Amino acid sequence: MCGIVGYIGQNDTKEILLHGLEKLEYRGYDSAGIAMLHEAGINLTKVKGRIAALRESVDHTVHATMGIGHTRWATHGVPSEVNAHPHRSASGRFTLVHNGVIENYQELKREYLHDVNVVSETDTEVVVQLMEKLYDTYQDTAEAFRQAIRLLKGSYAIGMMDARDPDHLYVAKNKSPLLIGLGDGFNVVASDAMATLQVTDQYLEIYDQEVVIVSRNVVEVQKLNGAVVDRKPYTAQIDVRDIEKGTYPHFMLKEIDEQPFVMRNIINAYQNENNELKLDADIRSAMQQTDRVYIIAAGTSYHAGLVGKSLMEKIANIPVEVHVASEFSYNMPLLSDHPLFIFISQSGETADSRAVLVKIKEMGYPAVTMTNVPGSTLSREADYTLSLHAGPEIAVASTKAYTAQIAVLAILAVDTAQAKGIELNFDPMQELAIAANAMEMLTDQKEEMKGLASDYLPTTRNAFFIGRSADYNVCIEGALKLKEISYIQAEGFAGGELKHGTIALIEEGTPVIALATQANVNGAIRGNVQEVVARGANAMVISMKGLEQDEDTFVLPHVHELLTPLVSVVPMQLLAYYAALDRGCDVDKPRNLAKSVTVE
Ligand code: F6R
Repeated sequence: MCGIVGYIGQNDTKEILLHGLEKLEYRGYDSAGIAMLHEAGINLTKVKGRIAALRESVDHTVHATMGIGHTRWATHGVPSEVNAHPHRSASGRFTLVHNGVIENYQELKREYLHDVNVVSETDTEVVVQLMEKLYDTYQDTAEAFRQAIRLLKGSYAIGMMDARDPDHLYVAKNKSPLLIGLGDGFNVVASDAMATLQVTDQYLEIYDQEVVIVSRNVVEVQKLNGAVVDRKPYTAQIDVRDIEKGTYPHFMLKEIDEQPFVMRNIINAYQNENNELKLDADIRSAMQQTDRVYIIAAGTSYHAGLVGKSLMEKIANIPVEVHVASEFSYNMPLLSDHPLFIFISQSGETADSRAVLVKIKEMGYPAVTMTNVPGSTLSREADYTLSLHAGPEIAVASTKAYTAQIAVLAILAVDTAQAKGIELNFDPMQELAIAANAMEMLTDQKEEMKGLASDYLPTTRNAFFIGRSADYNVCIEGALKLKEISYIQAEGFAGGELKHGTIALIEEGTPVIALATQANVNGAIRGNVQEVVARGANAMVISMKGLEQDEDTFVLPHVHELLTPLVSVVPMQLLAYYAALDRGCDVDKPRNLAKSVTVE
């Protein structure tokens, strides 16, 4: 979603800001801008569209020593140049970028800005105009900034410049992520370390309701009352190479290919030298004490949660409910006596999930966050964190995080079963290793998937995915992958449910992709395939070795039946990728989508 980069120092401010914004492109945005402070004042450039257009529009003769940049994903007001950040106060003195949502911006506008010409439709502009009003009262930028921040309700990460103060960058945060990067003779501000890793790996975390005054050599973290806070830096554990595409045409393809390695990383991370599972003892005991697990997540992470439910119920004999985060907050089910909440989130920043976390913490329930970004908001605010070890996921469409989530959920289920003394009749880590090998065999068959995508999905406007049991869970993820990047309208259905209505949509040539990896429903799903073929569907059957039939389109290598989603999702990801490429879509940055959805 929206991204922030800020810089103060003697290096090439413009290039550091533009490069940082390029690194944030993966999060999704529809407009962008930078403001730079130089001898003649503030130089402001904003565009609707891509950073490439911003790069072209920026005045390359400007030599600035401080600047702020922003990528905007529209919430209040359409994507446009005027709504793009940075926003300027009426006199032009203060310039500000903001991520998040100011919930009381209308009230603030009514109360403080009735005589100000607010030019954009955004909640953000209200903050910068308010800043100028408060400066009139306090005559001190830091104090006016703190006072302005105190009036805000909602979520924000803010970077602000005062045109008359070339030595300080003003920063504040509440609920939206923001970090300070430390350099030698310069400092940076970023909503995501990826934006500034090329200049530093040393970061300071900022907590909610803190203000930071950043100068070239000093970073002062303050409470809203001005009290100074001591904060130690940490080293970001991200390898710059992990956020480069290398020889791949797209991050999505790279990330699909990385899945077998991620599986091996997870096996190593969660096993000790004696091949025993190693999990945080507190998580183990929380799993023992609960009478019901509530998995809360959104999108692809929700789909991984559905697979996790069946793993935990079948392996560890624990009842599990899986809920879409945005629904749970407003329609909470009756909870059990001792609930344990597991938040699954690749980014660890999803606002819908965080809203539930805040609520259930107020109710006093324990929470685990399973995330790819330890240190993210959800990870910090939950009691425990389970790390996905997938490495940065840059493509908007989630692939390797999904399979990593399933693998870690499987390990959690196995660990819980072992702690409960449940005997398993298989070696889970060995089965995971077998699944990793199978995934590698599949990623080696890209040409075949490319061919299938152009045979089955070239001009279709819709497609259906059908499966039963574990395959149904993968089908809804397969459909989501296809629709989000190729814009083909796709739905995943339980094989037996199609005839209760949706079969009406099957016409001559409608693509139906059927998964058949589960022995107990193999006959039933094949019956469902016959039903759609009889109505003209162009059926692609993806089965598993041992269950295959002569007419099947593609046969997956055999893996343990509880782990089939790890493998069966790979052809779905590749089909979506190639279908999107065939249609000329922007695979890594699909329209309207954001990588990290930080608004409710
Ligand atoms: C789909 C996708 C989204 C995310 C969802 C939750 O490919 O990436 O559906 O899964 O926005 O995001 P996280 O996992 O970061 O909470």
